[in-house]
Amino acid sequence: MAYKDLREFIDILEGKGLLTRVGAEVDPEWEINGVTCVATSNNGPAVLFEKVKGTTTTVLSELFGRSWRRVALAMNMDTEDPVTIRNEWMKRLEGPIAPKVVKTGPCKEHLLMGDKANLDGLFPKVRWHEQDGNYYFGTLGMQVTADSETGEQNVGCYRMMYQDGVTAKLMMQPFQGGAQHLRQWGRRYPGKPMPMAVVFGADPCYVLAGGSKFVQPPSEEAYAGALRQEALELVKCELSDLLVPASAEIVVEGEVMPDEWDHDGPFGEFTGFLSQEKSTCNVFRVTAITHRSNPIFHGEREGYPSEGGLIYVLGMEPIVYKKLQALEGVLDVHIPLSGVGFELIVSMRVSRKGQVRQLIQTVFGDQEVGGYIKHVVVVDEGIDIRDRDDVAWAIATHVQADRDLLIIPRCPQTSLDVSQTNLHWGTKLGIDATMPRFVYEAEGKTAPVRCNDPEIQKRVKAQWHKYGITLPG
Ligand SMILES: Cc1cc2nc3c(=O)[nH]c(=O)nc-3n(C[C@H](O)[C@H](O)[C@H](O)COP(=O)(O)O)c2cc1C
Repeated sequence: MAYKDLREFIDILEGKGLLTRVGAEVDPEWEINGVTCVATSNNGPAVLFEKVKGTTTTVLSELFGRSWRRVALAMNMDTEDPVTIRNEWMKRLEGPIAPKVVKTGPCKEHLLMGDKANLDGLFPKVRWHEQDGNYYFGTLGMQVTADSETGEQNVGCYRMMYQDGVTAKLMMQPFQGGAQHLRQWGRRYPGKPMPMAVVFGADPCYVLAGGSKFVQPPSEEAYAGALRQEALELVKCELSDLLVPASAEIVVEGEVMPDEWDHDGPFGEFTGFLSQEKSTCNVFRVTAITHRSNPIFHGEREGYPSEGGLIYVLGMEPIVYKKLQALEGVLDVHIPLSGVGFELIVSMRVSRKGQVRQLIQTVFGDQEVGGYIKHVVVVDEGIDIRDRDDVAWAIATHVQADRDLLIIPRCPQTSLDVSQTNLHWGTKLGIDATMPRFVYEAEGKTAPVRCNDPEIQKRVKAQWHKYGITLPG
């Protein structure tokens, strides 16, 4: 059974000791930032701040944090294993479940229209990083827009910076669904504002779907339905035909002009750095706000480590896995959280010369993921790609730098990569850390074999009780 709403999920997490309520008053200028940062860095719980200076709204931070178990629970599974979660994620997404439109819902308990539609007071003024340009109230707000021809909706997660009670800066990268809708709207209705709704505190699977990329249509709502295995209930907005989750905590309705540009930032990014320069962004104007009684504001402290990074990997690894599975010899892929989406590790059964290089070039040449992934490490079957030590061992013992590195300069790379001084252009690195057996063969030699005796290990493990040895972990 899917959760009725975010509140039910919060109760589940609390019951399992995975969420802590903070009753003491906190200053959103610095304490929510600090507590969240320390909690997430130490694999701590989700935090519900019940008394926040300047607002009566409760603040939920790091719902998922870096916890695969909390992601699994959102999908009504109970595991900590990211591979089990990934495989189930992929399976469920094969069967999108269309949302159900209902007449009304808890998100309509309070309607703030006209002059009352103001962010001040209702929204906490959280400074997520000390040097942010202003209060980012939208770090996990989900933006809903519609295709102006087909009406098909898009849900994305784009940051929003507070400007005043009725205006915010909205940073959508040009390739995102919301930005595409805005360009399309501008061509169709030049000079007219496009409706947009921003959803805070929805079903956890709606949040996971909104922050992930999918083949569309159908919309993210149908994928969220697949992830929670039950249709989402949506209600119509007050001032537009956009549909939003009926159980959402807060819905901010507004408008965005297609031809109005501004700048936002600085902002602490998921790479762990403050954005170096101000980003071009759109301007969002509030027209109405609807919310539940005693609403919960849902936000997150972007940065490294952060739950934004976890949601990114959750959505991205299945995409890469699906693409690479089609290539000969690929057994598994892993995008480590600490690689912030820039690093990919591939397990491969190599059967011919050139196979590894072709795989690496395929990744870097891919339109969807090639602009993010900049380091690809390929290892042989038997190396645990989720164990950093195992991968480091493979690199240390298999790689000759003049033979096994593939370096491709000046490739498209996200500007979020601060290691590049020339924005948008980066150098790609492929590391072939598989055994160079074809080189050995060409020299008339046989490649070395490992001496870890897997068959003998299997035999002793089968009768481990006999030895009375307790192993850690
Ligand atoms: C926590 C979080 C914050 C994000 N912030 C932004 C952002 O500020 N701007 C942006 O363009 N994408 C941002 N993204 C990425 C998009 O939300 C993501 O690519 C999503 O798939 C876009 O959906 P769309 O393809 O439907 O537009 C963020 C993702 C997450 C999980």
